[in-house]
Amino acid sequence: MFELDTIDDTLAAIHDTLVQLGQWGCRGVECSERSLALVEGWSRPVVPAPAVQEDLARIRADLGDCRRCGLNARRTHLVFGEGDPQARVLFVGEGPGADEDRTGRPFVGEAGQLLTRIIAAMGLTREQVYICNVIKCRPPANRNPAPDEIQTCSPFLERQIAAIQPRVICALGTFAAQTLLATSAPISQLRGRFHDRQGIKVMPTFHPAYLLRYPAQKRAVWDDVQKIMAFLRISR
Ligand code: URA
Ligand code: URA
Repeated sequence: MFELDTIDDTLAAIHDTLVQLGQWGCRGVECSERSLALVEGWSRPVVPAPAVQEDLARIRADLGDCRRCGLNARRTHLVFGEGDPQARVLFVGEGPGADEDRTGRPFVGEAGQLLTRIIAAMGLTREQVYICNVIKCRPPANRNPAPDEIQTCSPFLERQIAAIQPRVICALGTFAAQTLLATSAPISQLRGRFHDRQGIKVMPTFHPAYLLRYPAQKRAVWDDVQKIMAFLRISR
């Protein structure tokens, strides 16, 4: 359930709180049945327990040969996502491009190779994270996803997030950030700080395809992913 660093953090916080209470003159802690029941409730996960939790295979099966929006007509492959089903970090992009549509795998083209290098620079591998997109099928000529396409497809992203339960979601670019945070604020305003999304931290950053066009912005993305590393205590 808990990762070690989380338990350490929790114990340290409890310790500090008790010391502080002692300094304030408190000589005991109220442990009535009612209080203990309340505290026990806190440790229950907000999402369903693993036994009843939906797994990724089921979500993929439910998508099936999806024809819920018009993008099915011209797609080669639906691109569901890949990686560790229990990843601590989930990367969410916009939608498949030509290479992804051809292979059925997320972020394998030029932008994808840059993302793979960013993940490596974080001290992680693609296999240790999970990578997917807001929409699962390629829009013709890489046009922006339409609002109805995002609306139709994003429940599947929601279910992927609920199944994976990542600690951090790294939202890549405008569409992922605006969809995940339900905002129309520009990526330049959203990036660089954690946003809370139902208890999961979201770090928006620039899309790797944008970095290919504006390499000077790589520094900003590196700053952003270092914040994820610090939060997860990943050192290199
Ligand atoms: N760009 C995206 O947003 N997603 C991919 O999977 C590939 C490129
Ligand atoms: N525009 C985008 O769509 N994404 C970025 O990351 C930056 C600008």
